Amino acid sequence: MLPEQHDILFSFLSILFATFGVFVFGNVIQNCREREGLNTTLWGGIFGIFAITLFLMTVHMFSLVQRDQLIFFFSTYIWTILLLLLVWGVFFKSNKIESQSPPIIRGFFFWTTVSVLLAGYTNWLPQQRSDPPPKEAAVVGDLTMEEFAEMGRVIIFGAKQVAGQKSIGKGQCPLCHTFEAGNNIGRCPNLFGVEKRSHERVKEERYATSPVAIGETEPAAGIVKGKYDQIPEEYKRQHGPDELTGEDYIRESLMCPTCYVVKGYGKAGDTKSPMPVITKPPISLSRTEVNAVIAYLQSKDTPGEFAAVTVPLPQDDAGNTGGGDATAEEDSGGDEEGPVFVTGKEDIQTMINTLGCPLCHTIPGVEGAMGQLGPVLHEKINAPKRIKDPNYKGKATNTKEYVRESILEPGAYVVFNEEAGESFPDGLMPTTFSEQLSVQALDKLVDFISQTEPPAGS
Ligand code: HEC
Ligand code: HEC
Repeated sequence: MLPEQHDILFSFLSILFATFGVFVFGNVIQNCREREGLNTTLWGGIFGIFAITLFLMTVHMFSLVQRDQLIFFFSTYIWTILLLLLVWGVFFKSNKIESQSPPIIRGFFFWTTVSVLLAGYTNWLPQQRSDPPPKEAAVVGDLTMEEFAEMGRVIIFGAKQVAGQKSIGKGQCPLCHTFEAGNNIGRCPNLFGVEKRSHERVKEERYATSPVAIGETEPAAGIVKGKYDQIPEEYKRQHGPDELTGEDYIRESLMCPTCYVVKGYGKAGDTKSPMPVITKPPISLSRTEVNAVIAYLQSKDTPGEFAAVTVPLPQDDAGNTGGGDATAEEDSGGDEEGPVFVTGKEDIQTMINTLGCPLCHTIPGVEGAMGQLGPVLHEKINAPKRIKDPNYKGKATNTKEYVRESILEPGAYVVFNEEAGESFPDGLMPTTFSEQLSVQALDKLVDFISQTEPPAGS
């Protein structure tokens, strides 16, 4: 069971309890009617309140996810039920209606105990995911190249897709890139045909010298350009010739985007790439994951055909390259291949990283948020300026409304990039955040982004 789901057993129990509350109310009213001298208003009132409380708590149970349901059930719900039973007992005793509690109470106690024990037991069992995504841990046995490339596809697009939602995996690539012929969003190269291009790129004259020359170290990535034998041991190419290959180009594109900047897609006259270093936070792909992504990129344009793939399968080098500790590299946070969703219970830094805002935006107060593709988020000052702009056609009248609109409907106003003397690309910021945020998460995000301003002293 996924932690973000409802717990069926506890939801069901809470419905039964609510029904039971109504039954007790009816039972008390009936007893009051049948006998003289009972205060119907008092007892009816007390048990009416119980019934309504149980009903409201049941409704509340449905707004919670599994873990919180359990906490609420055992911290609050179960005590309310016990209190109800106690008061019901007092009602019978004080009014001397029966010499002992009605059989239904005994039955109810028995049944509650059994259900709670059962519920506790099923939740104590190890929780199974309904759809286990391919994990590096599984990568030790016999893997075919098809499966390895599929692992790469999952890293890029995620294992599960939700209708109408752009599918994005741990690698976050689809936030910026498109993959099908003809589908361009402007600011990042379409990765269709990248396998073919990769062989030509390394032969370009421009590749040898710009923006970094072969043999020089690129500072942001800390990689020596064009020297596949000098890149960190854990990411090194294992097989093949001494001269540069297409595989080297693709690997370098991921590990050192600024080693070579595709013409027209860079910053500062194509000397800086806005693409994040994929092997560093927040994306942090491990060696096996990088190879899987390369395998996917090399094979995706020829479905069913894997001849162009040059990366080795992971078990080839399990013995000598630390393929075994690839599992240990697995990071705790971002390896959820399901659809991205934030509930609002996360801290703001986690929320923002999960959504991928730092890949495109520099955000004061968010560690490592140095993205270059979108405006620097200084919304405390920017938002009021945007609203006053005569070109502003959106509906916002204050900072929070503007930030909310920018997140849900980025196209409502396209920011002008004063540095570059042109508008920021329209259509680059994803329009799917509304499906990835709960109501609380959106409020929390809007509150935070509305407060962003340049750091003091700059
Ligand atoms: C924040 C946006 C962004 C993200 C996220 C991103 N890229 Fe890029 N990528 C770019 C930009 C911009 C360029 C062009 C500049 C350059 O050459 O570095 C680029 C270039 C590339 C290139 C070279 C393309 C060519 O035609 O030579 C490859 C390959 C690539 N990216 C793959 C990936 C993969 C795989 C991922 C996910 C693991 C990814 N990118 C994530 C923005 C991004
Ligand atoms: C793929 C890149 C990309 C991602 C990811 C992205 N944005 Fe944007 N964002 C942009 C671009 C480009 C613009 C400017 C164009 C426009 O206004 O639509 C922009 C504009 C904005 C603006 C308006 C800024 C201003 O000063 O007026 C806000 C606010 C904003 N983004 C917030 C976010 C938040 C919050 C997230 C994460 C939930 C996010 N963005 C994710 C690219 C991105």
